[in-house]
Amino acid sequence: MRVRADLNISLDGFATTSDGTPEDPFGEDWFRLVAAYTATRTFRARVLGDVTGAGTTGVDEEYAAAYFEGIGAEIMGAGMFGLHLHRGDPDWRGWWGANPPFHVPVFVLTHEARPTLEMEGGTTFHFLSATPHAALAAAAAAAGSLDVRIGGGPTVVREFLEAGLVDELHVAIAPVLIGQGIRLWDGLRGLERGYRVTAEAAESGTSHVTFSRSTADANRPGDQP
Ligand SMILES: NC(=O)c1ccc[n+]([C@@H]2O[C@H](COP(=O)([O-])OP(=O)(O)OC[C@H]3O[C@@H](n4cnc5c(N)ncnc54)[C@H](OP(=O)(O)O)[C@@H]3O)[C@@H](O)[C@H]2O)c1
Repeated sequence: MRVRADLNISLDGFATTSDGTPEDPFGEDWFRLVAAYTATRTFRARVLGDVTGAGTTGVDEEYAAAYFEGIGAEIMGAGMFGLHLHRGDPDWRGWWGANPPFHVPVFVLTHEARPTLEMEGGTTFHFLSATPHAALAAAAAAAGSLDVRIGGGPTVVREFLEAGLVDELHVAIAPVLIGQGIRLWDGLRGLERGYRVTAEAAESGTSHVTFSRSTADANRPGDQP
């Protein structure tokens, strides 16, 4: 079992945007940030349900397809699930519709107690307040021998990186400058030590940088924080 994370970030390191409005909650910057990913065949099929085969098929697509391979459980933050915009709303069920693209148990870290949500297609959202070690232990038990993905957002990914729990971090660095939002790298000086770092350029101008370490080097969920 490996713990993996993938994030789209801007050249200046931001993984969120802040130009959304009530009418356009994502804002223009979000689409600039994730343009290469959302253009891929995998994103179009898996997230948008477009099975026509439309979408890019180059390097960006290879990474997008790998996001979902071998994942047995996912962990995400309250922000990614949308709870910060829908606090206390018992009817909020996330952004992804009745059949979310995860198809595995998803553990949503939040201080807001909420009942478990069973969605179509095998996705179950569990809400929990827990340390990264405890959340990972729960997700690892659900994943069996498969990998656990830390889906985002940047606050939660940073928490798991700080705790030394991520075996593989893939960042897709879009060639855009965002200028404000939440930066992935804050507080992570020297993160590259202990990882093998590789990079690959995609046709879209996106740089795919991967930090990976052998499982033998990793803290396991049962380790003391
Ligand atoms: N660029 C990308 O690839 C990417 C990927 C995914 C998401 N995103 C974006 O990221 C944004 C959300 O990121 P974010 O950094 O604002 O938030 P986030 O990482 O999704 O969630 C952070 C929140 O989760 C809760 N939390 C975190 N650790 C916890 C713990 N140990 N126990 C209990 N609760 C815990 C806290 O919320 P409460 O205390 O309020 O419960 C905290 O404020 C969204 O806009 C999303 O679109 C970007």
